[in-house]
Amino acid sequence: MPYETIVGRTKEDLEKFGNKAMGYIGKHIVGTGEDAHLTTKVFIDLLRPHIILISGKRGTGKSYVAGTIAEEISSLPEEFKNSLAVVMIDTMGIFWSLKHSNEQQSNLLKEWNLQPKGFENVKVYVPFKQIEEFQKANIPVDGGISITPYEFSAEDWRLAFNLSATEKTGIALEKNVNELLQTEEKFTIEDLITKIRDDKETSLEVKDALGNMLTVANQWGVFGTQGIDIEKIVEAGKISIVDVSHLRATEAWSVRNFLVAILARKIYQARIIARKEEELARLTGEKIEKKFPVVWLIIDEAHNFCGTEPSVSLNPLLTIAKQGREPGISLVVITQMPNKIHQDVLSQCDLVFSHRLTSRDDLQALHAVYQSYMQEEIEKFINRLPRWPGTAIILDDNLEKVFTVNIRPRVSWHAGGTAAVI
Ligand SMILES: Nc1ncnc2c1ncn2[C@@H]1O[C@H](COP(=O)(O)OP(=O)(O)OP(=O)(O)O)[C@@H](O)[C@H]1O
Ligand SMILES: [Mg+2]
Repeated sequence: MPYETIVGRTKEDLEKFGNKAMGYIGKHIVGTGEDAHLTTKVFIDLLRPHIILISGKRGTGKSYVAGTIAEEISSLPEEFKNSLAVVMIDTMGIFWSLKHSNEQQSNLLKEWNLQPKGFENVKVYVPFKQIEEFQKANIPVDGGISITPYEFSAEDWRLAFNLSATEKTGIALEKNVNELLQTEEKFTIEDLITKIRDDKETSLEVKDALGNMLTVANQWGVFGTQGIDIEKIVEAGKISIVDVSHLRATEAWSVRNFLVAILARKIYQARIIARKEEELARLTGEKIEKKFPVVWLIIDEAHNFCGTEPSVSLNPLLTIAKQGREPGISLVVITQMPNKIHQDVLSQCDLVFSHRLTSRDDLQALHAVYQSYMQEEIEKFINRLPRWPGTAIILDDNLEKVFTVNIRPRVSWHAGGTAAVI
């Protein structure tokens, strides 16, 4: 029996599960340039965890397709949907609009036989201190988040401030954080500042430098006395958007890295435990009361979180990329610059969605993912893409194939359109 194209689904799964738990993401494009036209539907496998890279130049449809994937997960039949959760790290403040229907592209949707639709299962989380700011901008907020200083290792702190392990400031910071962690007390940033100020082995110059950095960190508005309750943020059948777009300080990336690091770690730990429970339940036949769902972690502008440079969030994300499939965590990394994504993440990708890319280095990065086959071909496929938004090639490592696809229009509104001066 002929099956539709389901990217990411192995032949064995196709035989076993047929068309179950797949998401409609677009249509094949046949022909090039003026002659290009759309043919049959393309789906994505949502049964298994995947590591996905979404790349392309500015405005080519990267964030848009991430929204399409989230829509499809939310549109699965209950039996699948209720075992899945989507967590989106939103650096641009655009994904809240998944709540609203896409009236803006209603004509386009009609051409695709689709209806505009908003999603009710979307929850937006922002740092506690910014809730009011978001509400004033008429952006719906469903909850606040904060992190605690004692959830991070001494090395995390050093990386957050971009200090080396051999320079005096780096050494002093690590030493003092370690001493506080050993007490097992719930310390605040002020406690850490005081501790460093009282440290007899540290010079005044180093104390001042660290004092300044930590004072600024305290003003980020993200640290509090309450850590992230991951069971609250990650909910089965829901899309949780963690909007970090209003963290505008120059150190914004450090704060965002802290947040993503702790989310990634907590999701991983929770899924490791859930996986054990699931296996045990399978053996004993007992029903699990409330299980931590399988997670799709989607990260926009991911080169800032799992890039080639060390950062607080790099290791937690590498763990998910390398070991996340077993506990059931999918990772979707979105970037304009695949060349700036850590090699170990690229090498774990089993699906790549690439819109237009022109830089040699970035195309080279895609070759790195697909070294074993396709080499120069990728460039040809990308160059032949029609020049309207939403066209992409999909490299599928499971099927060892490349597809040229037009991503379907979103049924929910995409707030991330290119700004225009009218
Ligand atoms: N599949 C599609 N169908 C219809 N329109 C699309 C599609 N993909 C993208 N667009 C249009 O292109 C615009 C830009 O897309 P998007 O915001 O996803 O770009 P991007 O690649 O994420 O850009 P940036 O790198 O600047 O974040 C969208 O607002 C939408 O209008
Ligand atoms: Mg984008």
